[in-house]
Parts: sequence; C-alpha cells; structure tokens
Amino acid sequence: MNKDKMKFDTMLIHGGSDHFNPENALNPPIFQTSTFVFHDTDHIEKVMSFESSDCVYTRGNNPTLKILEKRMAILENGVASVAFASGMAAISSVLFSFLKPGDDVLVHRTLYGSSYNMTTKVLKRYNVGNRIVNLTNLSTLEDLLSDGKVKVIYFESPSNPNLEIIDIEEVCKIAKKYNVKVVVDNTFASPYLQKPLDLGADVVVHSATKYICGHGDVVGGIAIAKDEDYIMELKFDFMSEFGGVMSPFNAWLLLRGLKTLSIRMDRHMENAMKIAKYLEAHEKVVKVYYPGLSSFPGHEVATKQMKGYGAMISFEVVGGFENAKKVLNSVELAKIAVSLGDCETLIELPASMTHRGYNQEQLELFGLSREMLRISVGLEAVTDIIEDLEHALSKI
Ligand SMILES: Cc1ncc(COP(=O)(O)O)c(C=O)c1O
Repeated sequence: MNKDKMKFDTMLIHGGSDHFNPENALNPPIFQTSTFVFHDTDHIEKVMSFESSDCVYTRGNNPTLKILEKRMAILENGVASVAFASGMAAISSVLFSFLKPGDDVLVHRTLYGSSYNMTTKVLKRYNVGNRIVNLTNLSTLEDLLSDGKVKVIYFESPSNPNLEIIDIEEVCKIAKKYNVKVVVDNTFASPYLQKPLDLGADVVVHSATKYICGHGDVVGGIAIAKDEDYIMELKFDFMSEFGGVMSPFNAWLLLRGLKTLSIRMDRHMENAMKIAKYLEAHEKVVKVYYPGLSSFPGHEVATKQMKGYGAMISFEVVGGFENAKKVLNSVELAKIAVSLGDCETLIELPASMTHRGYNQEQLELFGLSREMLRISVGLEAVTDIIEDLEHALSKI
C-alpha cells in the first residue's frame, strides 16, 4: 500500500510506527530508560555527529517519543515535531525560540490563562513587549506589524474560553509580508478538525493533555512544523536545555489515545451541537458561545477552516455571577474541573479558574464575563448531559 496516500484515520493508528515491532509486538514498547548504551568510540562519534539516529539520553531522544513525534507531524501535515512535558512547556519553548530582548509578541486578546501570563507577564521580564489585539478583525494588523518590532503572532482558534475564531490563512498572509512567525495553538480543534500549517502557520502547538490524550490521565505538549531544521533547534536548544521533556510512558499513553481521536471527536461534536442548541433555546440562558451555531459571529470562518466545530461551549445565564455559581454547584454528572477533551463532561467558571490571571478590567474589555460558564462536552449519552444541565438550570 502507498503509505503517502493513507487517510488520516489510518495514520492515527499506524503513523510513524513502521520500525517499532520488536518481538512482533502490535503496540510499541515503552522505552523506560534514561540513557542509552554505546558500543565503542566509533559509535559515539556517529551518534554525536547525527550520522546515526541512535539515542543518547531521553532528555533529547527516546524511541517511544520518536513514534509520537512522527505521528503528530504526519497528522498535522508537518515534517517533524517535538514532544514536551506539558502544553505550556511547548508554548514557552516555541516563544523563547523566536523572541529576543527588544522584540514584541502580538497575541489575540483571549488566550488560555497561562499562555496569557507567559506572553504578557513572564516574557516582559526578558524585555519582550506585547501587543494584545482582537484578531477577529484584521483591519489594523498591517499597521501593527509595520514598525518591524513584532516577531511572533500567537493565538488560539477557537480561543479559550470564548471560542473566538481567527482567520488563520488571512493572518498568515499578512504576517508573511512582514516576516513575522505565526504560532497557532490548535488544542481546541485537534488535527482532526483543523490544520494550521496548511493555512500558512509556522508552528502548531498543542496541549496534548486534552483531545490528543482524551482520557484525562496525561499532561503533555507538542510543537509541530514543516521546517525540520527549526524542529532540531527547538528540540536541542530549547526542549532539551530547558528540560521540559515528556516521559516515555506519557508518550505511549498519547499514542494509545490518538488511535481513537477521530471517533471521539465525532461523538464529542455530535453531543456538543445538541447541547448548544438546547442551551440556545433555554429561557434562562442569555448567551451561548459555540462556533457551530449559525448565530455565532465566527461561524462562517470556522466553516471555512475547520472540518467540524469542536466540543467546547461557553454560556451565560440570567442573573449573572450568583446564578452561574448556582448552576456550577448544582450539576451532578458534569464534573467541576479545569482541563478539557476528556470522556467526562467538565464544567468550570473560567474567570475564577483557568483565566484568573486576567484582571476585572481586562475580562470586560476582552469579552470574558465573570459569569461565563465553560463546558467541555464529554462522551456520555447526550440525554444524560442535558438532563443534568436542565436540573442545574432549574435551580436558578
Ligand atoms: C488552549 C490551551 N493551550 C494550552 C494549555 C496548556 O496546556 P498544559 O496544561 O498541557 O500545559 C491549555 C490548558 O488548559 C489550553 O486550554
């Protein structure tokens, strides 16, 4: 069979695993080792000069991680990738790899809380400035890039937690004119629904903790690019030197999770669409954020660049924060928790939890109300999830 022509669903299961079947094992072994043994000085020379691809030390290379890195590169239509200990290790390493003192990073106004802290607070200590903009409207982007200070544009689409949709292709077209790198966090979509590298992005990052894993039992991250030299630099100058390496066991769990990504996402989305419509029609719900609803402002761009609308929904209820707390305190099936992409339905209050780093003024300015509730729609029977929400909303 021609491997280049194999479909995404096949690659979720087989991608990158060609050479790893010692003892005819169906699944790859977990190479649970810190170091690797050299035969002699000739072997040392070959490995250290990259003439041989044998491994030296797991904080650099490990065969189990290599399969995951190859598979993720294939799934994102990239050339190579680097696995990290967490999504934040991937994001911070990529940002540090592109920025130096005196540069600016331009970010979309709503980001996952730690990514917001990293781009607007941590990098500031190293004299990297930031520009926080609304990338759903690109009319001022050229002006913002024209002084040459911005070296990286960083955003999520859909964004966490208000699901704003950014036209990736349009941002990349403008960025290319000014030689600015575009880094896209594809966590909410997963490679099944969206491929930012095909739309012109330079690097895609993931919190693999979420849909890639799918089972809520791993913290991991990954960065993928089409430029193999860049990935070598990211791996050996940043992942390895900062030390945010993924464990071989977590890589193995992610390989297992990936096998079912597309069927999980299909079911997540089927449930999410029904829940979004249920919420939209509910008298106690004042606003629903879900790109799949035709009434949602980002719907058209999402339809253009995504294969489906994902399974993250945010909403606001009548009566503000006090009633939002009542809903949260009344759910029984949905679990009150940060994180997303698990089999279990999770619900949270972003302004009090994942997005606590934003101050009140910024929350209002960026459209993140204190009472916004965010749901990561799980894989349970949708009728049970709706019954749980109905019960919680009846408490208002
Ligand atoms: C969109 C997004 N990006 C990045 C991260 C950070 O990932 P991790 O928790 O794996 O470091 C998260 C975590 O919730 C997230 O939601």
